[in-house]
Amino acid sequence: MKLLDLYAKMKGDLDAIERELAHSVTSDHALLSETSTHLLKAGGKRIRPVFVLLAGKFGDYRLDVLERIAVPLELIHMSSLVHDDVIDNAQTRRGQLTVKSKWDNRIAMFTGDYIFGKALTVVAELNNPHIHQILSKAMVQMCVGEIEQIRDFFNTEQSVRNYLRRIRRKTALLIAISCQLGAVAAGAERGIANALYRFGYNVGMAYQIGDDLLDLLGTEKQIGKPPGSDIRQGNITLPVLMALQEPEIRDALLAEIIKIRESDGAGDMKAVLNIIRKSKGINSSQDLANRFIAKAIAALDQLPGIPAKKNLSDIARFVAKRNY
Ligand code: IPE
Ligand code: IPE
Ligand code: MG
Ligand code: MG
Ligand code: MG
Repeated sequence: MKLLDLYAKMKGDLDAIERELAHSVTSDHALLSETSTHLLKAGGKRIRPVFVLLAGKFGDYRLDVLERIAVPLELIHMSSLVHDDVIDNAQTRRGQLTVKSKWDNRIAMFTGDYIFGKALTVVAELNNPHIHQILSKAMVQMCVGEIEQIRDFFNTEQSVRNYLRRIRRKTALLIAISCQLGAVAAGAERGIANALYRFGYNVGMAYQIGDDLLDLLGTEKQIGKPPGSDIRQGNITLPVLMALQEPEIRDALLAEIIKIRESDGAGDMKAVLNIIRKSKGINSSQDLANRFIAKAIAALDQLPGIPAKKNLSDIARFVAKRNY
């Protein structure tokens, strides 16, 4: 099934999530409602709620319960994006102005915190400490991943292992627990929830590698922001690290990265993008993403053959070649 068909099939339940999302960020504070609704309305793939709902199919599927997981996970994701755009100094997201550029950094910091708080308000309605433990641990890890990334800005000597550890924390764990918690909230067996966690973890790793590739290869229209944004702000991603290992281009690439650093990101990204796009780092990164996808699909082997299993493997295949 194509991804759009899957979304169409899930439309009723996703619409309910959408209403809850809108409702949850609306408050009597006009500015906070406005800033968070701005990001919500800009769109987004809502991939985390989709994972929660599909994982819920492996247990007792109750939308009223699953909503209390799907909505907070999307809100946590959203709040991390508002903060991420401050750190990455990003002007646009989802094709719209970021909160930090439409308003300012201070307002973005509190908008992020506010959305985080709203996520907790919704999930607090579930009386299951195990869920709260899993969620809070992932939130902590996400912060560690993001701060490690700042520490490693413009560090061209970092290892691939270091990169993988960072994306595990900043991206993969949240996707892993979206799958796990959907199953937990639906009362599925532990073995099922664990297999779904492994699926989500591997999809999440491929998802961030794909995001990093898109930042280098995508058009502004596809990715909702100018290509090369990562390297402009010093985030050295997998394709760049791999390109740096190629002796024929290493020196030229290093020189371009130093220029970007010295111009404080104000310079032209064409030269650096050209070098990276022609490097073997692109294909090697895609290969690694594909390996994570294969592992994700293998994790599904342990699950019963219900339609949601096929839906999950279809999403995994989409993630492997996504272009938005
Ligand atoms: C963007 O996530 C940040 C990453 C973790 C890669 P998404 O690609 O899921 O963003 P939206 O929600 O669809 O905008
Ligand atoms: C993912 O990283 C952000 C978080 C996990 C918070 P990016 O910085 O690559 O996300 P985009 O590309 O800005 O969406
Ligand atoms: Mg960013
Ligand atoms: Mg970032
Ligand atoms: Mg990115």
